[in-house]
Amino acid sequence: MKAVSKFEEVRAHLRGRQYHWLVTGAAGFIGSNLAEALLALGQRVTGLDNFATGHRHNLDQVRLASGAAWDNFHFIEGDIRDVATCREACTGADFVLHEAALGSVTRSIEDPLATHATNITGFLNMLVAARDAGVQRFVYAASSSTYGDHPGLPKVEDQIGKPLSPYAVTKYANELYAEVFARSYGTASIGLRYFNVFGQRQDPEGAYAAVIPQWVAAMIGDRPVFINGDGETSRDFCYIDNVVQANLLAALADSPEAVNRVYNVAAGERTSLNGLYDMMRELLQERFPHLRQAAPQYKDFRAGDVRHSQADITRARELLGYAPTHRIGAGLQQAMQWYVQQLTSIR
Ligand SMILES: NC(=O)c1ccc[n+]([C@@H]2O[C@H](COP(=O)([O-])OP(=O)(O)OC[C@H]3O[C@@H](n4cnc5c(N)ncnc54)[C@H](O)[C@@H]3O)[C@@H](O)[C@H]2O)c1
Repeated sequence: MKAVSKFEEVRAHLRGRQYHWLVTGAAGFIGSNLAEALLALGQRVTGLDNFATGHRHNLDQVRLASGAAWDNFHFIEGDIRDVATCREACTGADFVLHEAALGSVTRSIEDPLATHATNITGFLNMLVAARDAGVQRFVYAASSSTYGDHPGLPKVEDQIGKPLSPYAVTKYANELYAEVFARSYGTASIGLRYFNVFGQRQDPEGAYAAVIPQWVAAMIGDRPVFINGDGETSRDFCYIDNVVQANLLAALADSPEAVNRVYNVAAGERTSLNGLYDMMRELLQERFPHLRQAAPQYKDFRAGDVRHSQADITRARELLGYAPTHRIGAGLQQAMQWYVQQLTSIR
């Protein structure tokens, strides 16, 4: 008989019991996927977002995917830099999944004040509001950028280096605040250090777009794909379903040993940018034959980028029961289908 995975167990529990979740950054990529997954499990969800980088059309897609369960969704348009808004949003919440932040290493180098205000002040506001509202668990988006210049591979949670960007400083500061809140006030939090997440609704637009959506839009639009550096820079690309799984497991983890820790959330594999380009081209070239002759263009290395990144996911496996369902290939297949449908239907 097939063993029931921890994630199946958690989903079965959620189907039988409705909790109230606050998802910050709900109009963004990861937040909107979390909201969709929770609504599908019959949960009650409050979403908070100020649309700094998120979009109403992401919420529209969640509404369409959710059917009648959309009645269990309540949206607050508001800013986490305002503590009163955070307090309002946390009222009555059992669990907080805190995703709202300004992403992008490059943005943080160009505008460290903006990144600090949302990612540190906003984070602290959320922690205070969650503590005062008596939230059971505060799960937050940490980041693999916290490994900074540490050369070790794969990355193990307790061995970090010096941060390489203001963004990395903010994400590390989040971990320090969460730890100190546990010590000072007995709060229960879990930080999830995401490694390059990808999947439906990740924004292909704008100067700070992540590599996969940026490239797929360029490939479909027959525009050049630029690789920063020699293309041998590598990342542990993690499909969104794995991230959703990690969040639900973290929220409901009941062993005291699992709480007030940080976890790597990734697939546990390393892919070079050249390898990623080949995989994406392979998946798209049948539909877009112009890609058969395409080749990437190489530019200078980008400031603040780490050279290699790969997660050791042992801790999440052992303490949370995390078992990624999608390796990069399967995730890319899903994501490419979604982008093709989206990017060709709006042209
Ligand atoms: N995508 C990744 O690969 C990745 C990797 C590591 C960590 N993370 C972290 O995961 C989280 C979600 O990232 P994402 O990829 O979904 O990005 P995203 O930009 O799609 O989502 C972030 C959301 O937060 C909202 N937001 C920003 N500032 C806000 C503010 N002041 N008040 C309220 N809402 C605000 C944005 O409008 C957006 O909807 C972030 O904390 C990010 O730092 C993401």
